[in-house]
Amino acid sequence: TQAPLVDGFGRTIRYLRISVTDRCDLRCRYCMAEEMTFLPRAKIATLEELAVIAERFIARGVRKVRLSGGEPLVRRDVLQLVQRLGRHVGGPLDELTMTTNGTRLRDHAAALYDAGIRRLNVSVDTLDADRFRFITRHGDIAQVLDGIAAARDAGLTVKINMVALKGLNEDDIPAMLDWCIAQGHDLTLIETMPLGAIDEDRTDRFLPLTAVKERLDPLFPLVRDTNGTGGPARYWRIEGTGTRLGLISPLTANFCDGCNRVRLTTEGRLYTCLGHDDQRNLRAALRDGGVAALDAAIEDALTTKPRRHDFRIARDAAPAVSRHMSVTGG
Ligand code: GTP
Ligand code: 5AD
Ligand code: SF4
Repeated sequence: TQAPLVDGFGRTIRYLRISVTDRCDLRCRYCMAEEMTFLPRAKIATLEELAVIAERFIARGVRKVRLSGGEPLVRRDVLQLVQRLGRHVGGPLDELTMTTNGTRLRDHAAALYDAGIRRLNVSVDTLDADRFRFITRHGDIAQVLDGIAAARDAGLTVKINMVALKGLNEDDIPAMLDWCIAQGHDLTLIETMPLGAIDEDRTDRFLPLTAVKERLDPLFPLVRDTNGTGGPARYWRIEGTGTRLGLISPLTANFCDGCNRVRLTTEGRLYTCLGHDDQRNLRAALRDGGVAALDAAIEDALTTKPRRHDFRIARDAAPAVSRHMSVTGG
């Protein structure tokens, strides 16, 4: 086997996130503007190209691959990529997984399981139908819950992702945790991050998870659990239940020292940090110079991985990066 990928700060890369499309059938207010421009088809890497690139990372010690977007299940034939990468699960890959908004899960759950996926993260920012419609602009909560039920029936473990938003869903957090306990899901709360221009000022919606944790402490018996998933969340067990609460707090508890991740976009570009613009076009390297050039481009990209992001939420401040979360897949 070949040497693992290590960045300039000694961090080993074990986790590759792939945004398979920048498109989405929803328009969550904290993520996208109502009017969005998406990549023209000609710029999009083929699934074959994404697979070849991903397999170079797997050969270099990546043990976890997550497909995200945009909404990964809106890309036609995405299952082909899932099936191809799924062949490595149980071999060099510990886990192939996906982050989805759940709108199309009913149709795809069984095939995802058959291809080797065992665990999915589904974004659900509230269980209230009207608020869900408001936050997502287009979403139908019943459809998403039906998709989650289908996933569970197919044998998939589902974790719920909820972006904590001041004045929008903060009151829904205890009810969401109760529901997750009843359903046997883990729940991850996420601080809103300044990626891409949206139609509101994120300052008005920023809810520090330090404050949320203080509000939850008297309501739930939370016990710190240091076993992670290899992602950025810190976890607490809810005693007497099978549910864990995860907190992703880039603004109030920086986790960059332990970063093990890089991101491949639907154009085949490698971003070594969610919060920075440095990237290398791996697809172009592969096309121009084959696998040797691809390997060299990966090494070169790794040297640009910064120590940490510089996210801050401040009134009238431009977003830390101009691209939206959907381009790099979170
Ligand atoms: P698990 O494998 O279940 O731990 O998932 P995950 O948290 O790694 O992935 P998911 O796609 O569910 O992402 C949840 C949130 O974490 C999203 O908002 C991502 O943008 C965010 N996230 C993931 N990695 C990073 C990171 O390196 N930096 C920052 N700031 N946010 C991240
Ligand atoms: N800040 C924080 N989380 C975001 N997501 C999308 N945009 C943002 C943002 N600006 C979340 C989605 C999904 C995950 C991949 O990232 O809700 O759960
Ligand atoms: Fe789509 Fe996810 Fe962004 Fe919502 S957060 S608009 S579901 S990519």
